Amino acid sequence: MKTLITKTACLLAIFLLISCSQSSQTITGFTAPENTTRNRLFDSGWIFFRGVVGQAEQVNFDDSKWRTLNLPHDWSIEDVPATEDAEAVGPFSKKSSGTFNNGYFMTGEGWYRKHFKLSAEDMEKQVSILFDGVFMNSEVWINGQYLGLHPNGYTPFYYDLTKSLKPAGEDNILSVKVSNKGDNSRWYTGSGIYRHVYLTVTHSIHVAQWGVYVTTPKVSESEATVSMAVSVQNKDEKPVSVKIRNKIISTEGKQVAEIESEKLLEAKSVTQIDQLTSISKPSLWSDLSPSMYSVKTEIWKDNQLIDQTETKFGIRSIEFNPEKGFLVNGKPVKMRGGCIHHDNGILGSVTFDRAEERRLEVLKASGYNAIRTSHNPPSKTLLNACDRMGIFVIDEAFDVWREPKVPDDFHAFFQEWWRKDLTSMMMRDRNHPSIVIWSVGNEIPEKDPKWFYAMADSLVKKAKELDKTRPITQAICCHDAYDRKNTQDVYSIYEVQGYNYERLSYEKDKKEFPSRIFVGTETFPNEAFEIEQLAQKYPWVIGDFVWTAIDYFGENACGKFEILKKGTPGNEDLGRWPWRTAWCGDLDLCGFKKPQSYYRDVVWGKSKLEMMVNQYISPDSFVYLNRWAWPLELPHWTWTGSEGKTMKVNVYTTCNQVRLELNGKPLATKTLTEADKITVSFEVPYITGRLKAIGLENGKEVVVKEYKTAGKPARIILTPDRKEISANINDLSYVKVEIVDNDGIPVPVSGKIIRFTVEGAGELAAAGNGNPTEMQSFHQNKTTTFHGKCLAIVRPLGITGQVKLKAEADGVGRVSVEIICN
Ligand code: GAL
Repeated sequence: MKTLITKTACLLAIFLLISCSQSSQTITGFTAPENTTRNRLFDSGWIFFRGVVGQAEQVNFDDSKWRTLNLPHDWSIEDVPATEDAEAVGPFSKKSSGTFNNGYFMTGEGWYRKHFKLSAEDMEKQVSILFDGVFMNSEVWINGQYLGLHPNGYTPFYYDLTKSLKPAGEDNILSVKVSNKGDNSRWYTGSGIYRHVYLTVTHSIHVAQWGVYVTTPKVSESEATVSMAVSVQNKDEKPVSVKIRNKIISTEGKQVAEIESEKLLEAKSVTQIDQLTSISKPSLWSDLSPSMYSVKTEIWKDNQLIDQTETKFGIRSIEFNPEKGFLVNGKPVKMRGGCIHHDNGILGSVTFDRAEERRLEVLKASGYNAIRTSHNPPSKTLLNACDRMGIFVIDEAFDVWREPKVPDDFHAFFQEWWRKDLTSMMMRDRNHPSIVIWSVGNEIPEKDPKWFYAMADSLVKKAKELDKTRPITQAICCHDAYDRKNTQDVYSIYEVQGYNYERLSYEKDKKEFPSRIFVGTETFPNEAFEIEQLAQKYPWVIGDFVWTAIDYFGENACGKFEILKKGTPGNEDLGRWPWRTAWCGDLDLCGFKKPQSYYRDVVWGKSKLEMMVNQYISPDSFVYLNRWAWPLELPHWTWTGSEGKTMKVNVYTTCNQVRLELNGKPLATKTLTEADKITVSFEVPYITGRLKAIGLENGKEVVVKEYKTAGKPARIILTPDRKEISANINDLSYVKVEIVDNDGIPVPVSGKIIRFTVEGAGELAAAGNGNPTEMQSFHQNKTTTFHGKCLAIVRPLGITGQVKLKAEADGVGRVSVEIICN
């Protein structure tokens, strides 16, 4: 870790030197999609201290020994300093206050400071600072002046700096204290300024923060009406007359509409200007064709352009109908969704742009077209990627209201903050076409039904004030517990009914409440088939969101498996050390497919047949699996040590027959009935060789899956997801590391240490594997394999050039791969 930090610091210094000396070398360094001269990405050159320190908000505080870093940053994913816990393993510590809830990571207190200077031109303007997310309880000072506290770790917030800035050319100090304490979350949160920061520099008359709201009230293939509500802030002492011009730009960059109006702005006011225009033959946004438009908003005063912003939006209609279901542009669509938390696996919670995009990319590759941002607002970056990639979103606000789920969680702040947090989330997010439903809560435990219903009503009312174009839901589990007999039906508060784990109630409830629209806001991984059947059968079942699409740190052993002696009872308790992840994701922490994801491929028709082999369990034992767990099976035929033992082979298929062959000899042919759903099992004595499943339809072979027993580990294969990336430090290359035998067959070996070196224009951002029960560092230039695989993530240093990643391990030699940073 130390080496990595030093390397980053040196390179940052070089980078700053180069930037200052205006070298001719191409530097893309710190750009991000919304980086403009008005909204300046403010991620670079912060200094950081992990721990408690006094008076660091003061201007003359000596921060010269602090560490230099670029945002986004999460200190919880970094190795625990020996001063905090000498026995910690990488970032994992038994002293963690969140223990098994947050995955045994350390949290605590941290400080960030940034020195910056402004030009004389900037000093004539309004300057504010916008944080997209800081976990949590951040307090901010500018030049020693207190700006405020923001408890919520997921909502964006901003402060006006104008009045407290130093004259042009003098050093300004922004200080941020972050306090992430106690047992405050049911999952891994990360700690620090883990999302982008922007410095906003505007004229005193300007578009207010999140002040452009674009909706498309009428949409057809021939024409769309676009409505723009622009809030303009006049910070001046006198009224002023301005022109507001909105230009609509198509995906191809062509201007397709322009509209202008004049308005008198009162002194010290925010005024809303409404404009309506139409676009003929619009390119409609959908999951299959995510066309984006943008509105360029200009404010003109005395024929001078004084402010301009760009707001992306999509033209699409959505409708939620109790008979027809979910319609996008008039056509029925099912949401094939997954719940995700906000973290990026072994990178922690940092929201590098590419990390957010890659998460969605691997999900899309497995058939997902929707996510639920459980249980909090996501990063702006993630939503941008959902827009671009055509992924529907349920954007969720809260996991708790007034009652806690863990002792120190957000409940303590809820009553004071819910309005502000809901407002900032919805104002930031309401132009994203990908968002189709707002959720105001997840499984809210409340003792007092009266208070609960009043709160739910208030949340819905506030949400509707902010956006009328999307329905509001709440994810509800065990809805009988809401005392619907004595009070009102909890679901009647919402326009779309979010069911957590209650597929068995759908048909019964629909009979009783015909106006309901059902979405499985959480479902069990092993019910994918049954849920898909319901969605196919009933238009009013509009989709489901499995818990979860990707594995996450914390809520350890949510998908618990244990090999126990027969007669020993299993239990659902969360997993203690060395459990570190929930292990219920379709994809593991590194984004690699788990068996349940292959099963889902068959359910969703992406594959006709998949084959899994269960680990051998001795007759005196059994595998305890909880509700979110998946059997201990894997997609290979290399089971050294199980020779002669009987293995259970599961074949998932939509074919009506399966023939299993071992080393060319047919073992059995089985016919699937409706009762088998899509699963047929075989018992096969283990001998090495080739295991083949052949899918037959009407007696004809239509698909084959074959596994060959691997020999000894012989080589490493490195496969980057992209060999050419940008030199932007928000870009990444995800390199899959696999152990294979002499014939290139993957060897599913676990625990093999892989050592990495990186040369050139990049660094190793993290290395790790998906193992739910292996404590290790992600920053020591080495990791271990898990079932034959691990992941190395390369991050550009902000300069163009080549990065060479080398990997080596005992007995399998060394390999390297080159990645170009353009
Ligand atoms: C649900 C809850 C999720 C997760 C899941 C698995 O009830 O909403 O956040 O905890 O259970 O345990």
